Amino acid sequence: MHVVVTGGSSGIGLEVAKIYARRGVSVSLIARNVDRLDAARREIEQASGGKAEVFVAAADAAVHAGISAAVQACEAAHGPCDILVASAGIVEPGWFHEQAPDLFDAQWQTNFAGVANVVRPVYASMRQRGQGRIMIVSSAAAFIGIPAYAAYCGSKAALVGFADALRLEAMGKGVSVGICFPPDTDTPQLSRELKSRPKEAELLMGSIKPRPAKEIAEKIVVGIDRRSAHVYFTASIAALGLFGPLARPFIEVWYRLKLRK
Ligand SMILES: NC(=O)c1ccc[n+]([C@@H]2O[C@H](COP(=O)([O-])OP(=O)(O)OC[C@H]3O[C@@H](n4cnc5c(N)ncnc54)[C@H](OP(=O)(O)O)[C@@H]3O)[C@@H](O)[C@H]2O)c1
Repeated sequence: MHVVVTGGSSGIGLEVAKIYARRGVSVSLIARNVDRLDAARREIEQASGGKAEVFVAAADAAVHAGISAAVQACEAAHGPCDILVASAGIVEPGWFHEQAPDLFDAQWQTNFAGVANVVRPVYASMRQRGQGRIMIVSSAAAFIGIPAYAAYCGSKAALVGFADALRLEAMGKGVSVGICFPPDTDTPQLSRELKSRPKEAELLMGSIKPRPAKEIAEKIVVGIDRRSAHVYFTASIAALGLFGPLARPFIEVWYRLKLRK
């Protein structure tokens, strides 16, 4: 069994990789920074008590050719990918009218195109073999517009359409396509993000204690085990996922009232 995790050098992806490594599964990590990849490889090998074989490949998910080559290298090391967890992602809060186009584009390229770029090289082979599981890491921000998060919300919402369409394409072919929607999770990304999260976003989201990355990773892996189509993590995220179009007008009225205070 071979699990490929993009964004596996940090946060949620790293915790997912550790769970599989403890199960004795071959794991490959893809991210951009080589030093962080090497550190993660050592951490995972240690966490698995020497059971795991971890391969790392440096690539930018936003660059199609680079990520394809990285997947090829992973598959040369550990065999065909059985499970793909697409966790690589970035967030750069900023008001749309002020944010540099490059920062906006980077979020779109990484969070949306970056997922499609890594699914492409594994999906065709999974289909051919009649087996495989894909889990895409979106965000609760897919379900609700958050001020100063236009690029992030847009890119994470687009993943819902991508995953839902691909799941239907894969139906009956032995390949499951799931998507998960984590809440605020205690990771290096969140620590960076909180420094530039404006009070308006805070107002909308409230101050919910971030979840430990390990807890989120455990639920993701259960979702993959069960071939779940959607993994919501909390009752309020499930409600937003299932009844978002009904709830959003009320949330907007509530937000307008809070803004006035
Ligand atoms: N933390 C939260 O509160 C939260 C909530 C909801 C959803 N999420 C989502 O969960 C996923 C993981 O986030 P996290 O909090 O675990 O973040 P993190 O700790 O910052 O980890 C992000 C990982 O993605 C990699 N990465 C970033 N850009 C990349 C690129 N262009 N190409 C390849 N790898 C890239 C990073 O490594 P390099 O920088 O070395 O490339 C790192 O390994 C993201 O998709 C995020 O949007 C997070």
